[in-house]
Amino acid sequence: MAKRPYIVGNWKMHGTRAMLAEARAIDRAAERLPKADVALAPPHTLIHATRLEASLIGVGAQDCHPADGGAHTGDVSAAMLKDAGADFVIVGHSERRADHGESDALIKAKAEAAIAVGLGVIVCVGETEAQRDAGEAEAVVAAQLAGSLPQAEGAADKVTVAYEPVWAIGTGRTPTIADVTAMHRSIRARLEAIYGAGADAVRILYGGSVKPDNAAELLAADEVDGALVGGASLTAESFLGIIVAAAEPRRRFAAPQPLLRMSGKDPSSAHPEEGLSLSKAHLEGLRVPRACRARRARLNATPEPL
Ligand code: PGA
Repeated sequence: MAKRPYIVGNWKMHGTRAMLAEARAIDRAAERLPKADVALAPPHTLIHATRLEASLIGVGAQDCHPADGGAHTGDVSAAMLKDAGADFVIVGHSERRADHGESDALIKAKAEAAIAVGLGVIVCVGETEAQRDAGEAEAVVAAQLAGSLPQAEGAADKVTVAYEPVWAIGTGRTPTIADVTAMHRSIRARLEAIYGAGADAVRILYGGSVKPDNAAELLAADEVDGALVGGASLTAESFLGIIVAAAEPRRRFAAPQPLLRMSGKDPSSAHPEEGLSLSKAHLEGLRVPRACRARRARLNATPEPL
C-alpha cells in the first residue's frame, strides 16, 4: 500500500439524523489519524447534515444522474450533490448495477457528469461468484473498467476505483490475499493502459466484508490503496478499527481489544460531546496536520447554508 490510504464508508440505505453522532465521532477521531484519508457516503438525505457535522473527512454520495437537471423524478444531479456539500460520488456499485440495471455506459456518463462539476468519483467494479468460478473474473473487471471509467481530459486525477467482488459484499466472505493482489495488479495494468502516466494518481480500493479484524491484512496487499466499507462503517467504533489498520499498518488490530473508549457506552448511543477517544497507544505521536486545522477553522467560520 504505497499510496496514502483512503478509507470510505458506504452507508447504503441506512441512516437517519440519529446516525449523525457516528459521523461526528468518526470526524473527531480522524483528526488524530492524519495518515489516512477518510470519507463517508451517507444517503442523499444526510449529505448536507454530515457535511456540517464533519469538517475533516470527505463526504460523498452513493449515486447521481448523468444529466445536469430536468424532468427526472426522484433523481439527483451531480451539481445538486455538490451544492449539498458532497466532495465525491460513488458510481457503478454492484447493487445499482444489479437492482437498477445500470450499464457501463450509464456509469461512465454519471462519472463524467460528476467530474464536470468538480466532484471526485469512485467507480466500482467486481465479478459475480459464477464469473469467478468460470475463471472470468479479471476479464469481467477489465471490461467494466474499459466501459465505465471516465475518459475526459484530467479524469484520472478525479478517479478512484473500488474492486468489490459481488459475492463478498455483505456476506462475511473475502477473497484470498493472493486473489486480491492478482486482481488489483490487473486493475493497475488496465488503468495504465487507459490513463497512461495519469494512472499513478488513481487509488484502487478493495471492498467486500472489510472488518476491523481483516483490514490490516487486506490493506497490506500489493496495490490495495484503501477500502470501501459497507456494514462495518455504520458505527464509529468498527469503522475506526479499519482506519487505524490503514493508518498504522504494522499495528495489527486485535479484535475484540477495545480500540475506543466510549465512556463505557455502546457507540450508537454515545453522546458526541462526551468525546470519543482513541486509546493512548494509538494517539501517541499522532498530530493534527496544519491543513486539517485550517480546514476546520474555515468551515466553522463559514458554514454552508443551503
Ligand atoms: P460490505 O459492503 O462491507 O458490507 O461488504 C461493501 C460495499 O458494498 O461497498
